[in-house]
Amino acid sequence: MPNNPMVAGWESPSNIALVKYWGKYGDQLPKNPSVSFTLSKAVTTTEVTMVRSDQHKDIELSFLFEGKENAAFASRIEKWLNKLVQDHLPFLRGSIIDVSTKNSFPHSSGIASSASGMSALSLCLCDLLYQTKEERDYDDDFYKQASFISRLGSGSACRSVYPEMAVWGGHDQIPHSSDEHAICIKDQIHPVFKTFHDDILIVSAQEKKVSSTAGHHLMNGNPYAPARYQQAHDRMTLLMSALHNGDVSTFGKITEDEAMTLHALMMCSDPPYMLMEEASLAIIKKIKTYRADTGVPIYFTLDAGPNIHVLYPEEFQSQTENFITSDLLPHCHEGRIIKDKVGNGPKKIK
Ligand code: DP6
Repeated sequence: MPNNPMVAGWESPSNIALVKYWGKYGDQLPKNPSVSFTLSKAVTTTEVTMVRSDQHKDIELSFLFEGKENAAFASRIEKWLNKLVQDHLPFLRGSIIDVSTKNSFPHSSGIASSASGMSALSLCLCDLLYQTKEERDYDDDFYKQASFISRLGSGSACRSVYPEMAVWGGHDQIPHSSDEHAICIKDQIHPVFKTFHDDILIVSAQEKKVSSTAGHHLMNGNPYAPARYQQAHDRMTLLMSALHNGDVSTFGKITEDEAMTLHALMMCSDPPYMLMEEASLAIIKKIKTYRADTGVPIYFTLDAGPNIHVLYPEEFQSQTENFITSDLLPHCHEGRIIKDKVGNGPKKIK
């Protein structure tokens, strides 16, 4: 075994779910299938240096986030790495691992960084594994494994390793779909969806009161959970067909219904909680009114927080941007917006 340092570096994007993963079982497996757009500008860049050292039984991790130590992130990653060593990546055993990571978006923007962060690190780990095997072919199996490893770190991260759009979770009408890892569906979608913009309106930059992980667990006692899981399966069937046919209005309806369902599930959990703010609702109302008045196909979604993702095809960029600037930005925290769009997936940087 070589004792020389091995190095890997990847940039990986965030993603925004349209049909949402909300509820899990077993070892990070989803209770229902989900589908997402891969973004392009909200990315995490991660570099890993690994030295193999037989003297250490446990992994020795040093972790820097934006050049500084971060104990909370480090402990989550350490737990995940120790689990990976046992079950999936034994080559990491007894190694000294330096991780250095940074985000393209501000830390306090309220944007979830676990999808881009966990996928970037997983890609680095799979790259190191390939180096031990002297494999240089970053083929479908490489991304499948990176998706699998990402899922164990954070469920939604497994969709970030693919360009354009990904599905995670078994669905009987989606070939190769699996609870274990995501699959890329870019060849099954109409070109209009490849042009979609996602302008993220930052309503609040504060840390969430209830984490997604806690939210998933609350689904276990939610009386609506069985109906919700069936609904997500049915919506996946309808959405996959709309994505294939370029049916933007069906896409928009399902996407908005999903965002409302996600937040309704939070409000009827025990204990109930609410992550939308007044400004989130004001923005949602204005988007609906603007669409009804103008016919411009702009839609919203939310992840597990108050920020609004405004989704629209490239063709409508200029009028939508004008509308956002005049009507929606005044509701944003310090007028903040992150202008993103559908992207081409992760990039190897080292
Ligand atoms: C609402 O993937 O952050 O964004 O698996 O516990 O890390 P963990 O949860 P996470 O949950 C994401 C929830 C969501 C919907 C989605 O991205 O599908």
